[in-house]
Amino acid sequence: MTSFQYMCTTQIDFGVGAVERLPEKLQAAGFGRRLLVVTDPGLIEAGIVEKVVQPLHRHGYTVTLFDQVQPNPRDVDCLTGAQLLQSRWCDAVVAVGGGSAMDTAKTVALLARHGGTPQAYADGKRPYGELAPIACVPTTAGTGSEVTRSAVITEHSTHRKMTLKHEWLRPTLAILDPALTTTVPRQITAATGVDALVHAIEGYTCRRTQPISQAFGARAMGLIVRALPKAYRDPLDIEARSDMLLGSLLAGLCFGSADVAAVHCLAEALGGLYDTPHGLANAVFLLPVLKYNAQEHVAVHADVARLTGMASDGDNPATAVKKLLTGLEAWLQELEIPALSSLPHVSRGDSEKIVELALANNSTESNVRAVDANAYRTILEETFRQGGL
Ligand SMILES: [Fe+2]
Repeated sequence: MTSFQYMCTTQIDFGVGAVERLPEKLQAAGFGRRLLVVTDPGLIEAGIVEKVVQPLHRHGYTVTLFDQVQPNPRDVDCLTGAQLLQSRWCDAVVAVGGGSAMDTAKTVALLARHGGTPQAYADGKRPYGELAPIACVPTTAGTGSEVTRSAVITEHSTHRKMTLKHEWLRPTLAILDPALTTTVPRQITAATGVDALVHAIEGYTCRRTQPISQAFGARAMGLIVRALPKAYRDPLDIEARSDMLLGSLLAGLCFGSADVAAVHCLAEALGGLYDTPHGLANAVFLLPVLKYNAQEHVAVHADVARLTGMASDGDNPATAVKKLLTGLEAWLQELEIPALSSLPHVSRGDSEKIVELALANNSTESNVRAVDANAYRTILEETFRQGGL
């Protein structure tokens, strides 16, 4: 008999123009008038932050900007943001950006209210508590962090990726406006979009999955596989952008109450060691991990093949899996995802470090097929071989 629990308390407002409704949503949700907007300098320069902040100013909100968010967000920056929130007496936090901005915002809101360091929470040494309320305005279609209860922060001294996870970290509001995503550069569109597909696949197949996550993941896979090449080719295709933002939201609802798995464990190791953008790191490991997993778990990967549209209902499971692997390879090529060996700073000589970091990741045990150090070594070798080294 099936037995599971599912919770997502985030209020979602989705659609072109949703950002204009942010002030009324904040008011209805009982946010205070002093807001800390957490973002990165690139989004200010691109004029995206202005599109969020203008309606807030018009409605009398006081906005303090914290624009020190970096890719693979760091513990030290979260501490700085928390100090700023306290010194400006901010009531609530609005994240504008991708996963890095949202994960930083969650951690800033936690540290400002309850003190300590990200490490203390990630290592279970400090109890979580209610946060300053958070609204997320994602500007990329990828992370799904706007509806998840986790934040991934890098310990800058060791490059370790730490996962903070608790219901208190789930944002109160998620404002998803596809029009905010049309200026995302093509390479970032591709990489973040593949991250969303990995969320759907890992959330659907992992050991901690359950029927509700699978329902969200099933819908997300088809949307993402169809829409991402369109958004990549034509950044102004608002239908494709909208489908991608919806796909990444559904993928967030999928893995957010299940887990990610080996692709993310390897990707986070890479991100911690070399600052490789999260989406790109996921994209390079997707196929080798799927090959490894599908050898033992054919049926669930045949499901993935059909849900992504790579195989049809008439295909037997083994054929469906073959079509999934060849279809995804072509799909990744269409998105011009580079090989692992061509990524900046990545060195084959660091393989043992990558394996060690991936093994230490809690999500390793969620992978549908058991993974040990040797399995990670094999997958890593396979991924390096794809690059021709
Ligand atoms: Fe991810």
